[in-house]
This record gives sequence, structure tokens and C-alpha cells, in this order.
Amino acid sequence: MTASNLSRPVRLLAISGSSRQGSLNRQLLGLAARKAQALGAEVTQVDLRELALPVYDDDWAAAHGKPEGAIKLRALFASHDGLLLSCPEYNALPTPLLINSFDWLSTVPAQDELPGGTGATSGKPVGLMAASPGALGGLRALPIVRTYLSTNFAMVVVPEQLGLPHADQQFDEAHGLVKPDLDKVLDRLVASVVRQARWRIAEQA
Ligand SMILES: Cc1cc2nc3c(=O)[nH]c(=O)nc-3n(C[C@H](O)[C@H](O)[C@H](O)COP(=O)(O)O)c2cc1C
Repeated sequence: MTASNLSRPVRLLAISGSSRQGSLNRQLLGLAARKAQALGAEVTQVDLRELALPVYDDDWAAAHGKPEGAIKLRALFASHDGLLLSCPEYNALPTPLLINSFDWLSTVPAQDELPGGTGATSGKPVGLMAASPGALGGLRALPIVRTYLSTNFAMVVVPEQLGLPHADQQFDEAHGLVKPDLDKVLDRLVASVVRQARWRIAEQA
């Protein structure tokens, strides 16, 4: 079977490191998700806030077990082929919401024929984006996210990435990007993730 003749569509998760109403990163992620759907992918949006994860705390886990939200995140990764991720930069770092969610995920053990947290992410492609009203577009945090996901979660972070500067001025009324050159970067990023995911599905068939 070739990557262009798959038994099922590519399934991607779409995660934003910000869950706030009016989030610029959610807006950018929504556009990336539509582009992936246009390429035939199925996209599941995950709101990290809805996972209701406490701040990571071993004592909490010893008293309560793994939070339901972490178990759910593991199941979502286990049933999807890749990830579109847009994360704001907070003081040159990824947001606590993102890191806390993935830290919890990393502690979920294999169970009921599902892999553990990092097993569920392993080998899956991820495309990185950031949006900021600032001039650097959140670019400073992206190498950290790249290292975090590739080193610890064994994800295949595609080389293309997009830091969207002045993001509060970059979306048109149809929620597209006003600058064609940035839109093309996003096209390439999304295409790269979908292509990698297709290869992966074809290899496993
Ligand atoms: C605690 C904090 C730290 C921030 N640090 C940065 C920063 O280092 N670089 C940057 O470009 N923007 C920074 N910002 C501004 C965010 O980029 C901005 O709030 C952005 O809109 C957040 O993403 P969102 O719209 O998806 O929620 C910071 C915001 C907060 C709340």
C-alpha cells in the first residue's frame, strides 16, 4: 500500500497552548486545522483547559491516581497519527498549560492494551506554530517545544514552523492570513505533517 492509497484518513490532534477566549494561537491552529482537512485529514481539536489537570504533583497522584484528563489525553494520542500545535511564548518559554498537560501525559502507564503516555506519542509527526502580538511571534519558545517533544516524547517534529508576529493584525475577516508568504509557510507546515502521518500509516499497513 502506498501513502496515497491509505485504508483510512490521517487523524490529527490540534492542540493550543492557550485556551483563553480570543486566543490568537487557537485562531492560528483553527486555520491550520482547516488546511489539514482540505488535504483529507480528520482533525480533533483538544482544549487543554477542559482536561482539568491539576498542577503536576506526585503527592496528588499518590492520593488520587492519574487524573482522568491525563488518561483521556493518552487515549487521544493513541488514536491519532500526529499533532498540530500552536503555543504562545510566556517569558521565552512554552505555557505552563502545555507543559503541565504533557508532563501528566508522560506519567500515564501502559494499560488495557494502550501504550503509556510517551509510547502514545512516539514516532508521530508534529507541526509547531506560535502566535504573538509581539514582533517575534513567539519564536523563542519554539526550539524548547521542539526539544521537549522530540527528545522526551519521541515525536517527529517537522522542520517547517511558523511564528506569527503581530498576530492581532494578521487575520482577515474570513480568518485567513493577510500575508500570502506566511500563509504559504503554514501550507508547507501542514502538508509536511499530513505527509509524514500518511507515510507512517502506510508503513504500518
Ligand atoms: C505571563 C506572560 C508572559 C508573556 N511573555 C511573552 C513573551 O515572552 N513573548 C511574547 O511574544 N509574548 C509574550 N506574552 C504575550 C502573549 O504572546 C500574548 O498574551 C498572546 O496573545 C498569548 O497567546 P494567546 O492569544 O493564544 O492566548 C506573554 C503573556 C503573558 C501572560
